[in-house]
Amino acid sequence: MARTPDQFPPFGPGRHLLSVQQLDRAMLGQIFELAEVVDPIAAGTVRCTVLDGAVLGSLFFEPSTRTRLSFESAFLRLGGEVTTTTGFTFSSMAKGESISDTSRVVSGYSDVMVVRHPDEGSVAEFARASVVPVINAGDGTGEHPSQALLDLYTLRTELGRRGKSVDGATIAIVGDLKYGRTVHSLMKLLTLSRDITFRLFSPPSLELPVDIERYVVERGHRIVEADSATEAVAGADAVYATRVQRERMTEEVLTSANVTGNLLNRAMLHEADAEEIIIMHPLPRDSRMDSFDLSTDVDELPGLSIFHQTDNGLRIRMAIFLVAMGCSADAVKAATKNQSWDATLDWD
Ligand code: NCD
Repeated sequence: MARTPDQFPPFGPGRHLLSVQQLDRAMLGQIFELAEVVDPIAAGTVRCTVLDGAVLGSLFFEPSTRTRLSFESAFLRLGGEVTTTTGFTFSSMAKGESISDTSRVVSGYSDVMVVRHPDEGSVAEFARASVVPVINAGDGTGEHPSQALLDLYTLRTELGRRGKSVDGATIAIVGDLKYGRTVHSLMKLLTLSRDITFRLFSPPSLELPVDIERYVVERGHRIVEADSATEAVAGADAVYATRVQRERMTEEVLTSANVTGNLLNRAMLHEADAEEIIIMHPLPRDSRMDSFDLSTDVDELPGLSIFHQTDNGLRIRMAIFLVAMGCSADAVKAATKNQSWDATLDWD
């Protein structure tokens, strides 16, 4: 019988990463520790060759900027090489090739694969036919485990700076909670912490799926529904805002969601007395007029963490490769040497 993503064995060396349900607190600790170890490599101040000779197969069948480039940069910075294909047009899927044939073929050319595809469950299908570990970089409205890991890592760092911990935190999650896979993965991953209160706001028709709600509540966490983003952020430690996933919905759903204007802006944060709140977003932010997303007028606020998230994405994705490919922190250190160039920007 075919396994669903959460039925795959725990993530580790030689294992796929398809769902956050494959992670436990010990593995989180290991990934976050490796993310610290690779910090100077991510920053480009030292050079690493631990993945010398390894090839990443990067397959993106949906638009992507930061996920694809950060996975690929992560692999390159660790000394590996990358082969890539983007979109359906330039792959043999345009000729009717199945997921399993494509996966078996590309996995024969790679040591690890990263896959993004518009259908929920499709990356698990890739994994079943692959002869190397497969990392899910987003499967439709399903999951996006590497994003949840970098989100949690950022949240933990930002709360830590304020003398707080993720345990006991109150987190507002606002926007498209139905189709946003980053929300689904993050909420499930946060259940590994203790005593989380989620304050949710979504427009009509874009509510959180009941299975995610049940998953969170069954593990002893609290969900509070708010009538507006302003109400959701009041009293919260952090807010996680998301884009309306227009590409995943019918015209009918989009009309009933009635999404115009701003999802969250500075005036709303001021009204909620939350101008100091940690502000997160998986990005991309839809910055067009009336897109119902996070307004750019919050960009000067002290808690803006959206670019800490993107920077952390590189470290976390390096850590994921290291775990999947069985490399220890010591192996990384032994394969590191000083960089002979310096590309620090000279502002003068
Ligand atoms: C998200 C995604 O693709 O799910 N982006 C990302 O990977 N950082 C969110 C989105 O597209 O809105």
